[in-house]
This record gives sequence, C-alpha cells and structure tokens, in this order.
Amino acid sequence: MLHWPDSSFTYMTGDNILFSNDAFGQHYATRLMYNDLVDQAELYQEALKYYANILTPFSPLVTKKIQEVLSLNLPVDIIAPSHGVIWRDNPAQIIHKYLEWADSYQENQITIVYDTMWNSTKRLAEAIAEGIKEADSSVAVKLFNVGLSDKNDVITEIFKSKAFLVGSSTINRGILSGAASIIEMIAGLGFKNKKAAAFGSYGWSGEAVGIIESRLKEAKLEVIEPGLKVLWNPDDEGYAKGVEFGKAFCSRI
Ligand SMILES: Cc1cc2nc3c(=O)[nH]c(=O)nc-3n(C[C@H](O)[C@H](O)[C@H](O)COP(=O)(O)O)c2cc1C
Repeated sequence: MLHWPDSSFTYMTGDNILFSNDAFGQHYATRLMYNDLVDQAELYQEALKYYANILTPFSPLVTKKIQEVLSLNLPVDIIAPSHGVIWRDNPAQIIHKYLEWADSYQENQITIVYDTMWNSTKRLAEAIAEGIKEADSSVAVKLFNVGLSDKNDVITEIFKSKAFLVGSSTINRGILSGAASIIEMIAGLGFKNKKAAAFGSYGWSGEAVGIIESRLKEAKLEVIEPGLKVLWNPDDEGYAKGVEFGKAFCSRI
C-alpha cells in the first residue's frame, strides 16, 4: 500500500538495485536522471512534497516496510523509483528521511492559510503572524492565501509545521470554497501531532470559525479554542486582537 494496493518492491541481486515503485519517488521531471546531478534543495523539496501529499496517510506502513527491508541486510547501491530521479549517490539518505517523515514529522514552524474575498481575513492572518513572531522569534511563520497558492505546496508546509491556522470569512453562513478544499485535503491525509486553530472576518452571523473548528476536530486535530472572529475589515482594534490571538496561540503550542 505505498501507496496503491498493487505497489511492490523488487530487488535485483548482483547490481543491488531496489526498484521501489512509488516509494522514494517525486513528481519531478528532469533529463538529468540521477540524484547527484540535480539541484539538491529542489530535489529535497520535491521528495518532501511527494511524501507529504501522497504518503502521509500510510506513515505507519512506511515505517514497517522500511524496517522490514533494513532487516534483510541487503546491499542497496541504487534506488530506482517509478518516477522522479534515481538515487545512486548515498541512496540511504532518502530511506533515513522517510523514517523521519513517517514519525509525526515537524519543524519549528507555524503555517497560516486563509481564504478571503476582500482581504479582511488576510489582514487578520498578518496580525496573527505578527503576534506569533512577537511571542517567539525563532519560529518560522508562513502565510498562504489558498486561492492564490498551489494547494500541494500549502500541504507540504502544513506537513512541516508543529501547528497551523485556517482562516475564512463567512459566506452564506458557511466558509469560502478554498478554505473548504484545503480542510478536505488535511482531513484526508490524517495529519498527526499538530495543533490547529481557526479565524476569520464576518459581517453579521459569523459561522465560519465554528465550522472550521468542527471540521478540524472531525479530522482528529487538537483544536485550540476559541478561534478569532472579527467584524468586517479589521480596524486598529481588530488588528490588535489578531496580534494578541497570535501570541496566545503560540503560548499554547
Ligand atoms: C455573498 C456574501 C455572503 C455573505 N454571507 C455572510 C453570512 O452569511 N454571514 C456573515 O456573517 N457574513 C456574511 N458575509 C459578509 C462577509 O463575511 C464580510 O464581508 C467579511 O468581512 C469578508 O471578509 P473577507 O474580505 O476576508 O472575505 C457575506 C458576504 C458576501 C459577499
């Protein structure tokens, strides 16, 4: 099941090649073919993006399968996945990365994703980011407007985070479609060991924050409540509430 029912590893004796199917792969097209020939930062990002978006739900199986393969004590000179570059220079590096990524991986990062019509919720996101930085300048804070970002890049950043926030304004007593779609992806991937919170601007009834919180809880994430609701476009007082909320969120991680 890494990540398809008929996925299987094949090992070629003599040449010591592990044909790993989808495991250790990347959605990375290059005529250079081998891991030592490409930009290392780009390759790392593509391998991580692949893991975060495709393999996260199977993390317990990743650990089990790698332990099983390691226990065979086979020499592995090359790992050849079914797509992406071939690992010929220190192929063990990607095996060790997979063991780290499969083990509730997180960095000292908080990601803030939001959807917005007229940037009121964006302004709140910026205020929250400022508050987090004031509370802990060592934490990396990343902001994404989900409507303007590659959703797989957003998921990769959430994968790297110890906590994340989802923001949406209220529309027709619901949430904006970009926020709904990223929550659906988060729920499907089954992230573990991440704290979360909701925020958003509203005009009169303000259901969005409650809806985001209940969907995140359904996805079994630890939601820090109450979320932040601010009426219309935040004025100085609304912005200050965002900064305080960011500080308080950071202190509860
Ligand atoms: C089509 C439409 C429907 C809306 N429906 C609601 C609603 O049901 N309840 C509410 O509290 N606000 C509603 N609003 C108001 C927005 O939530 C409010 O303008 C908010 O400040 C927009 O924030 P944003 O710029 O981050 O999108 C609606 C706005 C629009 C344009």
